Amino acid sequence: MAKQPATKPDFENSGAMRSNKGSASGVRVYVGDCRELLPRIPHVRNSKVDLVFADPPFNWSRAYDEWRDNMPRNEYLDFTYDWLDLCIGALNEDGSIWVNIPDDTAAEIVIHLKRRGLSMVNWCIWHYRFGQNTTSSFIKSKVHALYFCKDPESRTWNPTEILEISDRASTYFDPRTQSKRDGMPAGKRVPMDVWYGPYWGRIQGNNKERRHQHDNQLPEVYLERVIRATSNPGDLVLDPFLGSGTTGVIAHALGRGFIGTEYSKANARRAFERIEQGPVRLGAAADAVTAIHKPRSRRQPVAP
Ligand SMILES: C[S@@+](CC[C@H](N)C(=O)[O-])C[C@H]1O[C@@H](n2cnc3c(N)ncnc32)[C@H](O)[C@@H]1O
Repeated sequence: MAKQPATKPDFENSGAMRSNKGSASGVRVYVGDCRELLPRIPHVRNSKVDLVFADPPFNWSRAYDEWRDNMPRNEYLDFTYDWLDLCIGALNEDGSIWVNIPDDTAAEIVIHLKRRGLSMVNWCIWHYRFGQNTTSSFIKSKVHALYFCKDPESRTWNPTEILEISDRASTYFDPRTQSKRDGMPAGKRVPMDVWYGPYWGRIQGNNKERRHQHDNQLPEVYLERVIRATSNPGDLVLDPFLGSGTTGVIAHALGRGFIGTEYSKANARRAFERIEQGPVRLGAAADAVTAIHKPRSRRQPVAP
C-alpha cells in the first residue's frame, strides 16, 4: 500500500455520518482510505450495493487536500486493482459499476474488470470543452465513463429516465421519428455514448454548481444520467472517492441510499453538507438537444 500521511482519522474515530432525510438507507460518509474502510462497511462486505460510481485520483500530482497523488506507476496500478476488487465485491448480482478515468489508465481498468468476469455495457466518453491548453499534442477534452455490470440480463436499465430529443426531431424534421417502434416516445432517443452539451462542462469559474476547494468536481448532469439510468429509487449507491460529493448529492436527491468514502476529513464534511443541501440542477438535462448541426431550414419542426 502506498505511503500516505500517518495522521489520517481512522474509522473508529470518525465513524459514520448519517442523514435523516431521503430513503430508508439514508446517507453515510466514512473518512479514510477506501481500501481500509470498504471491507469494514457491512453493506459492502455483504454485497448489498446496487451501483458503484468511482472517480478515483488520476495520479496526475493534483493537490488534493490530503491524498498524495503521485504514486509510482506500479503502485498506482496496484492501488487501482485493490479498490476495483473491493467495489466488485460490494455489488450484488444485478449490480453495475461505472469508472470515470482518463486515457492513461482506461485500458488497464477495462482489462481488469473483464478478467474479473464483469461485462462491458458501454464505454462512454465525457467530452468537455476547455481542456488544459497545450501545443505539444492534441488538447485533452475527454474522460472515459466505463459502464460494466455483473449480469447483462438482470442489470438495472431505465432508458426512459434519461431521454433526449433526437437529431431527426430537432434538426432534420424527419417524420419517421414520429412513427418509430423502438419503445421510446416519438422524437426522443436514449443518449449516445459521447456525452456533452449544456451543463456538461468542467465545473470551474463561476459555475453555479462549483464548490470551493474542489477543482475536480463532476457536473451534476453526469451523475444524474448514471444514477437514473442504472439504479432504482431505494437502491444503494456507493462512491469510494467522494470528493465534493456529487454522487451523494444526486443519489440522495433521487431517493437512493448512499455510502461514500473519502480520504480527506474536510472534503468529507463539506460533501456531507452539500448532500444535505441538495443539487442545483436536477432535471436540467431532461429532453436536451445535442445535435451539432443547425436545424434544416426548409422544413417545419416536428413536435416531439
Ligand atoms: C477525483 S476526486 C473525486 C471528485 C468527485 N467525483 C466530485 O464530483 O467531487 C477524488 C477524491 O478521492 C479522494 N481520495 C483519494 N484517494 C482516496 C482513497 N484511497 N480513499 C478514499 N478517498 C480517496 C481524494 O481526496 C479526492 O477528494
